[in-house]
Amino acid sequence: MSEGPGKKARIIDGKAFATDLRGRISRQVGALRAGHGITPGLAVVLVGEDPASQVYVRSKGKMTREVGMRSFEHRLAADTAEAELLALIARLNDDPAVHGILVQLPLPGHIDEARVINAISPDKDVDGFHILNVGRLATGQKALVPCTPLGCLMLLRDHHASLSGLEAVVVGRSNIVGKPMAQLLLRDNCTVTIAHSRSRDLPAIVRRADILVAAVGRAEMVKGDWIKPGATVIDVGINRIEKPEGGSRLVGDVDFASASQVAGAITPVPGGVGPMTIACLLANTLTACCRAHGLPEPEGLTA
Ligand code: GUN
Repeated sequence: MSEGPGKKARIIDGKAFATDLRGRISRQVGALRAGHGITPGLAVVLVGEDPASQVYVRSKGKMTREVGMRSFEHRLAADTAEAELLALIARLNDDPAVHGILVQLPLPGHIDEARVINAISPDKDVDGFHILNVGRLATGQKALVPCTPLGCLMLLRDHHASLSGLEAVVVGRSNIVGKPMAQLLLRDNCTVTIAHSRSRDLPAIVRRADILVAAVGRAEMVKGDWIKPGATVIDVGINRIEKPEGGSRLVGDVDFASASQVAGAITPVPGGVGPMTIACLLANTLTACCRAHGLPEPEGLTA
């Protein structure tokens, strides 16, 4: 499909997909309430006053309420002791109104992030960061899957009839995106390569990809001439760069102007992967709620 002169790639509209996904979640939440008297609940914990985290947490609360779920927000001072945070998590683990728990990262330096994440009940771990969920995903067991890679997978499955046998290259090896993304693509029978900033001849590796997921956190690093003609490009990067004329703008890890001349389909930044993350958080909360009550898995919301 053409997107105007010189622009060959189809634009994958993550914003529209996420809006539709939240609509589907909202209808399933309504059915859960009508049929079983159950309302899914999501608890979000923020420690400290990091401005970006405050924006995310506010947005998560708003969208949680919009789909008809209960939102529980816990804001703790930056100097909160780790023991106090762990005690809050223990209360949320035991609270039957709470089906999902998210502790916003990063945490202040005096708190052990891994200890906190692994204190969350794995069945309420809607971020999918608990070591048990990581292990379940890696071994093909029923898990809660990290939201951003889950969102990328949904966009890819929507675009491709089948992912089976395709060459997938994931650039980035973080626990939040790169590693779980690779596991999900492997599960869908892709041939998966994980590359990163230290990979030798990154352009040559990227050129093999039928599916490219860029999650390195470097503004516009992946150039158009690195991309195999017709490839599907999923850009997870959100980087703020200064404009020559002053002010700033958001760009991805992919140089959109050159890449969109070569790719078959590409996610824009903003409006691509970003809006999928919170929608998938809500999907995971609904999934966790259904599992907690022994109800069937919600349709089309899981990996
Ligand atoms: N901070 C940035 N991204 C995330 C995320 O996906 N989950 C949590 N808990 N914190 C984050």
